[in-house]
Amino acid sequence: MVILKSLQEIEKIHKAGLIVADVLAGIRERVRPGISTLALDEFAEQFILAAGAKPAFKGYRGYPRTVCTSVNDQVIHGIPSKDIVLKSGDLLSIDVGAVVDGFFGDAAVTVPVGPVTAQAEQLMRVTEEALGRGITEARPGNRLYDISAAIQKHVELHGFSVVREFVGHGIGRNLHEDPQVPNFGERGRGPRIQAGMVLAIEPMVNAGKSRTVVQDDQWTAVTADGSLSAHFEHTVAVLEDGPRILTKR
Ligand code: MF3
Ligand code: CO
Repeated sequence: MVILKSLQEIEKIHKAGLIVADVLAGIRERVRPGISTLALDEFAEQFILAAGAKPAFKGYRGYPRTVCTSVNDQVIHGIPSKDIVLKSGDLLSIDVGAVVDGFFGDAAVTVPVGPVTAQAEQLMRVTEEALGRGITEARPGNRLYDISAAIQKHVELHGFSVVREFVGHGIGRNLHEDPQVPNFGERGRGPRIQAGMVLAIEPMVNAGKSRTVVQDDQWTAVTADGSLSAHFEHTVAVLEDGPRILTKR
């Protein structure tokens, strides 16, 4: 069941979303060769608590940390660890969620650690562009899979592949609500997009083949072929006059 949000509720999601945006900006500043992903997680947790919010992921289905940090062939849900130390050339995806006043915000970015390969640069750029193409379709009257199709088309145009085992989602009083928002699909299909929907749109894009495998920790999803992966996500409200990004300063 899709839960439509009032403008007041959207403002609350925006409050959470701005904290998430600030955490991601702070992590970006701290990413450098030699820092552990646990240090980034500790920064995020402190920041969220100091802002009067709570981490959204910690404790969710037993997830142990505040953020997800996924390096290179890790697609999503990488668990921060003191033993994972970033090195120059790594590609790092960071996913952050916060809850304020009972409402959730959720966003992710992929950043380079020092200089990265041209392929990694292109993968980041195309994934972020695909998110933008998807967001543009999030307007009343469109169909949900218009978002999906726009993302898929842009990704495949550049010879990359979209992950199918994980999808975006509605968000509000819960981190995950209906509808699911796949990153693949056919234009003109799916439920009609309505004003008041709030969607976490999150393309996960692999440089190689689409298939992913979940590791023994039961969280970390990696590409089956070992290829690089990137992830960008925004929480987006559908307003009468179009999409509004709630996880951006
Ligand atoms: N952005 C991801 C999602 O929406 C992060 C969830 S991590 C979890 O699914 F630990 F909370 F599951
Ligand atoms: Co999400």
